[in-house]
Amino acid sequence: SVKKIGIVVGSLRKGSYNKAIGKYLQNHAPEGVSLEMVEIGHLSLYNQDYDESGEPAEYAPFREQIKSFDGIIFITPEYNRSVPGVLKNAIDVASRPYGSSAWDGKPALVISSSISDQSGFGAHHHLRQTLAYLNMPTLAQPEVYIANVQNIFNEDGALQKEESGQFLQKVLSAYLDFANKQG
Ligand code: FNR
Repeated sequence: SVKKIGIVVGSLRKGSYNKAIGKYLQNHAPEGVSLEMVEIGHLSLYNQDYDESGEPAEYAPFREQIKSFDGIIFITPEYNRSVPGVLKNAIDVASRPYGSSAWDGKPALVISSSISDQSGFGAHHHLRQTLAYLNMPTLAQPEVYIANVQNIFNEDGALQKEESGQFLQKVLSAYLDFANKQG
């Protein structure tokens, strides 16, 4: 059964609402399951020349960390109707070298959020496209689009709407069931 899940957040902002969602899930993990926040802000921009000429020192430990997880929860804002570059960069880094992607086969959950009514739909589905290619089985239902996230968590990351908390707990439980069913 799954024991260790990585949380990858597509925002580096200190007061990030997406980080608040991640922390909320961490605080509601069932016994025996640990949810760990993954750092991605220190990763140099990927350059394919590194495949030949040697690569930044932080890449190998990042890939090992991703490999150590039984599944990955992606929580992301939408930037210009797509995935923030910092998240795409992290995905690209751990997808290489070709043929030994760290993401391969890991069950995933996608959560998008937005301070508008749009809920990050564009980022959400661009991310699903990438995860399909990376062979990451991804929970289909419930879909998790969090609109007007600034009304759900305050700037300190504290939950303001109990029903949203209940929904996130339901989602986490559905995801862990799903992840347990993947061989
Ligand atoms: C945004 N934001 C945004 N929101 C949205 O719903 N659709 C979008 O296309 C964009 N585009 C966009 C581009 C850039 C460069 C920035 C900086 C922001 C707003 C975004 O949803 C908002 O800043 C969130 O609060 C970011 O998430 P965190 O940092 O709170 O996790």
